[in-house]
Amino acid sequence: MSPYDVAIVGTGPDPENPTVESFAMAYRHAEAYERREDCRLLAAADLVSERVETFGDRFELPTDARFTDAVEMFEAIEPDVVSITVPPEVHTDLVAAAARRGVEAIHCEKPMAATWAGAQRMAQEAWRADAQLTFHRMRRFGRPFRSATELVADGAIGDLRRIEISWGDFYDTGAHAIDLAGMIAGEPRAEWVIAQLDYREEDLRFGMHQENQMFAQWEYDTGVQAIMATGEGDGLAGGAFHVVGDDGEIRIDSDDGPMLEVRRAGTATWETIDIDGEGLHDAGSDEYQYGSVYHQRAIDDVIEALGGDRESELRARNGLNTAEIIFGGYESVRRRGRVDFPLTIEDNPFEAMIESGEIGPDSDN
Ligand SMILES: NC(=O)c1ccc[n+]([C@@H]2O[C@H](COP(=O)([O-])OP(=O)(O)OC[C@H]3O[C@@H](n4cnc5c(N)ncnc54)[C@H](O)[C@@H]3O)[C@@H](O)[C@H]2O)c1
Repeated sequence: MSPYDVAIVGTGPDPENPTVESFAMAYRHAEAYERREDCRLLAAADLVSERVETFGDRFELPTDARFTDAVEMFEAIEPDVVSITVPPEVHTDLVAAAARRGVEAIHCEKPMAATWAGAQRMAQEAWRADAQLTFHRMRRFGRPFRSATELVADGAIGDLRRIEISWGDFYDTGAHAIDLAGMIAGEPRAEWVIAQLDYREEDLRFGMHQENQMFAQWEYDTGVQAIMATGEGDGLAGGAFHVVGDDGEIRIDSDDGPMLEVRRAGTATWETIDIDGEGLHDAGSDEYQYGSVYHQRAIDDVIEALGGDRESELRARNGLNTAEIIFGGYESVRRRGRVDFPLTIEDNPFEAMIESGEIGPDSDN
């Protein structure tokens, strides 16, 4: 079988100095494709020509495979697989453009989109074009979260009741944390969310505003609830995640314990789970120049699902479950009440409230 032809949109400027303004995720995706025998990195595009030139030199792309216009690249190269590693504001249009030009597998960075309508449109465009659409939630492949999910599925803590999260924030890292809660809970849909937030100091990440503190509670259609407290309130879970069953509990990255521990059903003592030194962000391997084992496992999952008969767990459906909680949480703040799903708004209520001066560093409130 001939290898998949891969192209990247949004090379970024500098992979060596990642910041919350620019992480150059393209290099991390590209390295993972490069390491697979069934993938051939063919082309890249970035609005800024020096960036695509630097990337092209590093990955030895021919000069006629370096573009400043992504659509031109889709039409000229006709790639099978595309990674979209641009800021969230432009995810939707580029995913739609790739789907309309027959790209088979579109792998986009998280957070899914800048608005709820944008998230839904991406999923629709991919579905109509019969393209595989996935999102780069690579932390799913880290042992702390995988082993916790297996413990829950095996009944180690009885019936799952609650997931408490005190990790990161609601939109940016939340796109991982809320997704991971969904994985641990068995990928259910949420039925409602209620939330409040505080935004007094400007914090922009990858071009999007990020609240300073948030509290949210939601319930899945399985009856399992989740609560998330960030910023000043992040002592809630006593670590990153506290997973509570009716007879047992799991802690991930607890404040004073190991990375993963369980108190199994019928026991009173905590047991440390061996996860081979893997952490929240990475497995600590130094064999990657830019990326990590987690990025590799995510790209592997995307490519293996493309050639096989199973869906990638990074699929758009799981992405929508997470996006509905994120935008629904912001809508709850705007409405000052609980938001029942399906979510019927279109915009990003957080950005809308900042724009109208209702909240944010420049508001009078
Ligand atoms: N998975 C993770 O843990 C993780 C970590 C960091 C960032 N991210 C996400 O990755 C995405 C990209 O972030 P980054 O920090 O790598 O970005 P970056 O700024 O390093 O690179 C993005 C590039 O996209 C280019 N670009 C913008 N619009 C374009 C267009 N229409 N066509 C072609 N190129 C375009 C920009 O010129 C820029 O060079 C964001 O969604 C961000 O949230 C994910």
